[in-house]
Amino acid sequence: MSQLQERVETLHELLNQYSYEYYVQDNPSVPDSEYDKLLRELIDLEEAHPEFRSPDSPTVRVGGQAQSTFEKVNHDTPMLSLGNAFNEEELRKFDQRIREQVGQVEYMCELKIDGLAVSLKYENGRFVQGLTRGDGTTGEDITENLRTIHAIPLKIKEPLTFEVRGEAYMPRQSFLSLNEEKEANGEQPFANPRNAAAGSLRQLNSKLAAKRKLSVFLYSVNDFTHFNAETQSEALDELDQLGYKTNQERQRVDNIDEVLAYIEKWTEHREELPYDIDGIVIKVNNLEQQQEMGFTQKSPRWAIAYKFPAEEVVTTLTDIELSIGRTGVVTPTAILEPVRVAGTTVSRASLHNEDLIHEKDIRIGDSVVIKKAGDIIPEVIKPILDRRPEGTETYHMPTHCPSCGHELVRIEGEVALRCINPKCQAQLVEGLIHFVSRQAMNIDGLGEKIIHQLYEHNVIRDIADIYYLTEEDLLPLERMGAKKVENLLEAIERSKANSLEHLLFGLGIRHLGVKASQVLAEKYGSIDHLFHVTEDELMEIPDFGHKLAQSVVTYLENDDIIALINKLKDKDVNMDYKGVKRTEVDGHPDFKDKTIVLTGKLHQMTRKEASNWLELQGAKVTSSVTKKTDLVIAGEDAGSKLDKAKKFDTPIWSEEDFVDKQKEIEG
Ligand code: IVH
Repeated sequence: MSQLQERVETLHELLNQYSYEYYVQDNPSVPDSEYDKLLRELIDLEEAHPEFRSPDSPTVRVGGQAQSTFEKVNHDTPMLSLGNAFNEEELRKFDQRIREQVGQVEYMCELKIDGLAVSLKYENGRFVQGLTRGDGTTGEDITENLRTIHAIPLKIKEPLTFEVRGEAYMPRQSFLSLNEEKEANGEQPFANPRNAAAGSLRQLNSKLAAKRKLSVFLYSVNDFTHFNAETQSEALDELDQLGYKTNQERQRVDNIDEVLAYIEKWTEHREELPYDIDGIVIKVNNLEQQQEMGFTQKSPRWAIAYKFPAEEVVTTLTDIELSIGRTGVVTPTAILEPVRVAGTTVSRASLHNEDLIHEKDIRIGDSVVIKKAGDIIPEVIKPILDRRPEGTETYHMPTHCPSCGHELVRIEGEVALRCINPKCQAQLVEGLIHFVSRQAMNIDGLGEKIIHQLYEHNVIRDIADIYYLTEEDLLPLERMGAKKVENLLEAIERSKANSLEHLLFGLGIRHLGVKASQVLAEKYGSIDHLFHVTEDELMEIPDFGHKLAQSVVTYLENDDIIALINKLKDKDVNMDYKGVKRTEVDGHPDFKDKTIVLTGKLHQMTRKEASNWLELQGAKVTSSVTKKTDLVIAGEDAGSKLDKAKKFDTPIWSEEDFVDKQKEIEG
């Protein structure tokens, strides 16, 4: 072996050793400068002698070439998820079921790290491939980014070929500094460490990923053939021996009472940890017993995740703001004294409608309890009556539109108050914002602020005016340079060529969503054919109800609308179906092209929101359960549809399962 080659190997060993001490053992033996110096030496050596480069050289920690996409790769065995428990009762049930099945057991209690599941493959002891969980069956190859995580050994102590799984995460401290930096640069900060970790691992440029200080805890091995372990506890110890980072707060316990004590301890102390956890994972310790119990479709029967309850905090409600949507619905929003909850600062929360405000008797000036539903959407739970200051008054929605002054009406059977003035400024502006949005005409660069300004300056009054915009109209606006104007005008020009469904959706016809716009465009081919269509004809289209049919026909009969369409035609805006699919959303395979039924009461979102979301994923949301239904999402008090689903053996998800999936997909 040449001297140079020997030096390269020594450098590999030293650098790996120092990474291990620093990032896995949390116990560095040399100052950072020593590591940096040796790394520099190795980088220089590799530059001068490219033949010494290798995929597991410690120089990969700094990142490599940027990629254009992540390759999709099938998992050797699916990456499942865990069933959830939210309280003691559910945990005791879990324990009982287990003891009925396999008798006396020991449990392993582990922290449930709030990050992203990853799978790491080793061949002959070298890290060769790392995948995200993806949909559980197929993940994305993020090897280059994972190599930059120092806690992941590039080479382990034995020449094993196997797969380890664990959770990649961003320590709180790294998260805080990253956000500080983002804010200083005027960039949008990440909502929480989990999102930051997900964003970092999805960086196509691994040099950028390398700058994000991520770490990992490994918690399972796919195949125990090369392990001596008989228990989860021994398996984790072996992972330690091999050089992996495992979580040291784990605890082996003898029974469910000790599990509960462990949960209690971490409920109290979780904030002291340097990373976020969102629960506790409880696993049957004995591997043979695990095997005996096996798996359901989605998760192992021998483990469960206890989820911490959503964090609740108290703050002051300083005002109630009203906003008017595109369809005139007036929505009240609580303005809150900013407060941190579940990882982000919250200063607003939707109050949905007047009924809800009255039901909870929420008043301006109240101290209110808030939480984040599903740890995502801020929600006011209740006022604290003991703390109600003197002089507060029951809240009443205004009788007139705060934007145009027109009287508000409450449509029968609806809780919402609505401004029905078709010329209401707030609605028109919302309509314009909708028209340019991604799924409608998709005009890049025409943001809300610009639309507001253009409206206020009297430059645009209706959607067609967008196509009459000139450089002179745009240049005087705030923060508008020549280049921006040019790009914007180009984007407007481009949008003229969109296929009909974009225009149909963009018009904002009541009840006409993305999916129905697509159906109409495809069926009728051009707007002129649609002008002649009758309600009865429309109602023959599957999923077109009376309301929608009526809404479309009435809309297209309106003289103002006909004039508007002509104004668009004058500017050569395309009115034909081009046979192109609507903006392709890479639907998640769990939902894409699946027929899904929503039933029961949802707590974390409205059904409409859920169904919109599903449709964006390419699902078909229908109202009745048949043999063809692929999935039923059942909220509280789901009735006959749920029974039917059981009869047909249709997979059934709880709202919780659904929200978990959403979180997973959206990162
Ligand atoms: S065991 C079959 N242990 O929680 C799945 N999971 O749905 C076995 N997680 O996305 C998972 N910490 O990535 C296990 N100590 C831990 C964990 C853990 C976090 C994540 C996991 C998965 C989710 C469970």
